Amino acid sequence: MPFESSPQSHDLIEYANLGVGKRYFIITFGCQMNENDSEVTAGLLESIGYSAAACPNEADLIIINTCAVRRKPEDKVAGLLGKLKALKNEKRDLLIAVGGCMSQQEEVASYISKRFPHVNLVYGTYSLPRLPELLQQAARQRGTIVDIEARPDSREGLPIRRSSSFKAWLPVIYGCNNFCSYCIVPHVRGRERSRPLEEIVAEARTLAGQGYLEITLLGQNVNSYGLDRAAGYDFSDLLVELEKVEGLARIRFMTSHPKDLSPKLIETMRTSQKICEHLHLPVQAGSNRILKRMNRRYTREHYLALVAAIREAIPGIALTTDIIVGFPGETEADFEETLSLVEAVRYDNAFTFLYSPRRGTAAASLAETLTHREKEERLQRLVDIQNPISLEINQALVGQTVEVLVEGPSKNNHELLTGRTRTNKLVHFKAPACPPGSLVEIEITEARTFNLFGKLRDVEKH
Ligand code: 5AD
Ligand code: SF4
Repeated sequence: MPFESSPQSHDLIEYANLGVGKRYFIITFGCQMNENDSEVTAGLLESIGYSAAACPNEADLIIINTCAVRRKPEDKVAGLLGKLKALKNEKRDLLIAVGGCMSQQEEVASYISKRFPHVNLVYGTYSLPRLPELLQQAARQRGTIVDIEARPDSREGLPIRRSSSFKAWLPVIYGCNNFCSYCIVPHVRGRERSRPLEEIVAEARTLAGQGYLEITLLGQNVNSYGLDRAAGYDFSDLLVELEKVEGLARIRFMTSHPKDLSPKLIETMRTSQKICEHLHLPVQAGSNRILKRMNRRYTREHYLALVAAIREAIPGIALTTDIIVGFPGETEADFEETLSLVEAVRYDNAFTFLYSPRRGTAAASLAETLTHREKEERLQRLVDIQNPISLEINQALVGQTVEVLVEGPSKNNHELLTGRTRTNKLVHFKAPACPPGSLVEIEITEARTFNLFGKLRDVEKH
């Protein structure tokens, strides 16, 4: 797998031997931004001599990259840290580090250091470039080192070890300015910072040169890309530049905020050859009253009009969404508006979540009005409406031939290969020799709710 390193802007020389002869293991929770952070973490560690371990038991350094967006992933981390205590007892030199969004919260960082004193390092979202220095300190010092200061955090020039050799994450904007009332992200990832357009395009060119076919542009809200820089360009302009990068076949992006998705962006998507026909457009709720309480700053009507405009411009585009069930004050009538919106939009897929209060957010001060059980019941009703829609949309694809980017053997059946369509649907198919990273034409033969089955139609396109 390609390993890029240009440590000019971050002097790693000082720590060059820190990890020689040692192995690391990274456990990642949460979103694609976290997956990308873990790739940078791996790149940093390898640049100072570490190599990858096959499992935590074989590692000299275990890094947990955490997520704070809901309670569930936080509970999982606590469980994991409890279990790692035994490993630490067996192996006194083992270093355990906890980074990411959970660590960035002051109370959580101090809780981890008190409750799990076998953790050597707790570092926040701004500290990643300093990881080598922090690890050196942690190895020398007893007790837990905590580094969660919010500081300017340029990532440019940091090495990266990507987990795929044909599709890559490409962050374009860090942080979020929206402060949706339920969301911890602006609190732990700070205000929006766009990367300069030239740097993103240069990275995309490097990736294309290395044989990458697909890039996914990442940001909590990609639609506000460029606005913080006042440099005279926006997200559409970035897409237009990336379209010109030779060798790339597919461009994806996420996440889009419905209040900022412009007609200009829809037009750019319409005329592009490379931007994939998939849009993740989180709606969160279908009732205007709840949308207001969530501080989403759009209405149901605006959202539905946006969906209509997108579908008109890009027929056949796959739409996915995020929905929170059981926000404080959500009445039965409000919830029914979410159900009716889901029926009206007919999403390809919806990611559904039970509302989970996050300390420090505006919604955390609103009293919860539903029990866990009631929230679960609503979630089930929502899923019961959405799943048949997903299945129906997939069934309509049976008999069609679609382009699939091959990822590798299917997890559940090693006789099959797995890949994704431009619409981001998972397809399992029978084909003899298709190496991961090839683009193939697959005829869809069977549809399920969450995936498709097919057979190879044609030889490789690239
Ligand atoms: N409770 C439940 N779901 C949440 N999300 C974000 N914050 C919360 C919360 N406090 C969901 C939103 C978001 C997705 C990434 O996670 O739907 O789009
Ligand atoms: Fe959270 Fe809203 Fe920002 Fe998304 S847009 S990260 S939901 S505050």
